[in-house]
Amino acid sequence: MADLQQIIDGIFSDLAPRLGEGKVADYIPQLACVDPKQFGISIATVDGHHYSAGDAAVPFSLQSISKVFMLTLALGKIGEAVWKRVGREPSGSAFNSIVQLEHEHGIPRNPFINAGAIAIADIVLAGSQPREAIGEYLRFLQMLSDDDSIYIDEKVARSETATGFRNYALAQFMRSFGNIEHSADHVLGLYFHQCAIGISCSQLARAGLFLAADGRNPLTGHSIVSAKRARRINALMLTCGHYDGSGDFAYHVGLPGKSGVGGGILAVAPGRASIAVWSPGLNRVGNSLLGSEALEMLATRTGWSVF
Ligand code: DON
Repeated sequence: MADLQQIIDGIFSDLAPRLGEGKVADYIPQLACVDPKQFGISIATVDGHHYSAGDAAVPFSLQSISKVFMLTLALGKIGEAVWKRVGREPSGSAFNSIVQLEHEHGIPRNPFINAGAIAIADIVLAGSQPREAIGEYLRFLQMLSDDDSIYIDEKVARSETATGFRNYALAQFMRSFGNIEHSADHVLGLYFHQCAIGISCSQLARAGLFLAADGRNPLTGHSIVSAKRARRINALMLTCGHYDGSGDFAYHVGLPGKSGVGGGILAVAPGRASIAVWSPGLNRVGNSLLGSEALEMLATRTGWSVF
C-alpha cells in the first residue's frame, strides 16, 4: 500500500476540480453562509500517526456526527437501558422524519436520526440543567481529542433554536408517549448545542480514534468504553449512520460512518484508523457529496473496507 499521506494528497487533487458540488444545508440559516468550495481530510491511526490534506484545520459544524459522542455518553450513564428508549434498526426515512414514531409508540428507530438523538439528549440531561450537560459533553469531546480549542458556535445554536420547528415537534410528540422526561426547551437546548460544535477534521479524527482501537484512545491511554461497546457503536454507525443513504454508504465505502449536515463525516476503520472528511456540499439525502466520494476512494486505495 502506498504511503497514507500520498493517498490523501491524491484524493484531494482528484477532487479539487469538483469543489463546490452538492448543496449546502440551508434549512439552518447559519450553515447556508459556509463557503462550499472547501474540503478537508484527516486520518489518525491507532499506532499514533496523523495525516491531513486540504482544509483539515478549518473548524466546521459537527451537527449529527455529535450523535455518536452523545450515544457514548448515554451508554456510559444508563448502559443497555438506552435500548428501552431508542431502537437499533435503520429507519429508511429522512433524518428528520416523524411518521414512524406514531406507529411505534414514540420509540425512534435508532439513536442517529433526529428523534433518536433527542431521546438520547433526554437521557444525558438526567435531571441536570442544559448548561451543565452541555459542559459535560464539550469537556468529553475536548478530552477525546486532547484539544481544548473545540468550541460551541453560539450563532449556529441560536440559528437552530430559532428555526428547529420540526425538532420541537419530534420532542413534543415523543413526550406525549412518555419517551421524553424533560421539557422540550431543555432537551433541545442540549441537542442544538451538541450539534453546534465547531471542530476541524484533524480534531475529529482524533476524537473518533477510540472507536478504531477497541474503546481505548491510544494517544492518551484513556479507556473510553469497553471493546464490546466500541464494536456495537461501530455496528450502529454502519447500519444507521447515513440515514436512508446508509446502505449506499456501506456498499460504496464499507466502513462504519456518521455524517452531519455541516458536511462532515467520521468514518472508522476498526483496528487501523479514524478518518474525518469535510466538504459542505450535500447529496440528495443530506450527506457530504465529496466527503462520501473521498471515503470511497480511500477505502478502495487502502483496502480498508470491513467486507
Ligand atoms: O437537527 C438538525 O436537523 C441538525 N442539527 C442535525 C441534522 C444532521 O446533521 C443530519 N445529517 N445529515
